Amino acid sequence: MKALILIGGYGTRLRPLTLTVPKPLVDFGDKPILAHQIHALAEAGVKEIILAVNNQPPELMASLKGFEDIYNVKIIISIENEPLGTAGPLRLAKEMILKDNESGMFFVFNSDVICDYPLDKFIEFHKQHGKEGTILTTVVEDPSKYGVIVHQEDGKIDRFVEKPLVFVGNKINAGLYLLNVSVIDRIELRPTSIEREVFPQMASEGELYQMTLNGYWMDIGQPKDYLIGQKLFLQSQRDRETGVLAKGSLIVGDVMIHPSAQVDPTAQLGPNVVIGADCVIGAGTRIYDSTILARTVVHGYSLIQGSIIGWQNTIGKWSRIQGLTVTAEDVQLKDETFLNGTMILPHKAIAASYPNAGTIV
Ligand code: GDD
Ligand code: MG
Repeated sequence: MKALILIGGYGTRLRPLTLTVPKPLVDFGDKPILAHQIHALAEAGVKEIILAVNNQPPELMASLKGFEDIYNVKIIISIENEPLGTAGPLRLAKEMILKDNESGMFFVFNSDVICDYPLDKFIEFHKQHGKEGTILTTVVEDPSKYGVIVHQEDGKIDRFVEKPLVFVGNKINAGLYLLNVSVIDRIELRPTSIEREVFPQMASEGELYQMTLNGYWMDIGQPKDYLIGQKLFLQSQRDRETGVLAKGSLIVGDVMIHPSAQVDPTAQLGPNVVIGADCVIGAGTRIYDSTILARTVVHGYSLIQGSIIGWQNTIGKWSRIQGLTVTAEDVQLKDETFLNGTMILPHKAIAASYPNAGTIV
């Protein structure tokens, strides 16, 4: 089996984190977003993964060898000269997808989606209905920013409407597909959207089915959704009893602490907290609904709530950080700093407080 992961754009909605780290390499739970996808694909028997990119961040290229070794897959790159949208890259990679493809099908993943990947069931269902494509779907409260799907009881899709302006339904495209290689011939080599041009046509011909996801799902392309995604990820670790969640008298709810992090025994963490590799969390600290990315030091008695603290930050003691604050890589805060809904750009030393939400420093 093969897979293609669509990696486009510059991750602008996940700024300022993505100013120094390409979105697929932003850590989520215990590993980078891309590693979750590669891991799931490898477990489902995928041997070769094509990354469809329209730029080549050097950090991403440098990390691929490591992923190949860990997950025992081959990773190849298909580069666009101009952004080809969500369908064009499939056509561009046609030869790569077809070469030695005995199964006659391939996975396509949006790169910013995270879920409990039910890939074995997905393959089984796709083979069983025998049509050209299957889309994984999920139900959301606000479907307007997604692709909406209307289907029959057996899964056959009647309509696919991308970003509908009027309410069509709340079952949405989760951004994971299993397609027969014949779908590639439906696509021209030009910038084109699979959601607006290819799927509606396939649905009208009765060639498109859906399978509803059990379990959590999130498009983590923006800070608010990233934090919701972390919460769902932690919950699913608890439900599946994977044994990776932290335990302790001052741990509240679901918390994940990287084994290399040092957490003072008087720090109170949780619920919904992820502490990254090599972090140091000081005495009396209180952290909830937040992610602290790798190599960050939080000095004593600080409070962090509903925020993402970037890599290699130093948070001075008695600071208070809240309201969906996001700090980029290498930010230093002096003692007693107050941040509320603040975005801090990379490589900054901050000597003032920013109590008004929306400030970019
Ligand atoms: N290689 C390449 N080239 N990839 C691209 C390009 C491009 O020109 N444009 C977008 N992508 C990638 C993005 O990086 C992402 O992985 C995927 O294609 C989807 O693009 P987004 O920009 O994230 O789309 P969206 O989130 O608004 O909507 C999509 O995802 C929803 C689920 O999260 C659609 O597929 C919706 O139908 C779906 O519901
Ligand atoms: Mg997206």
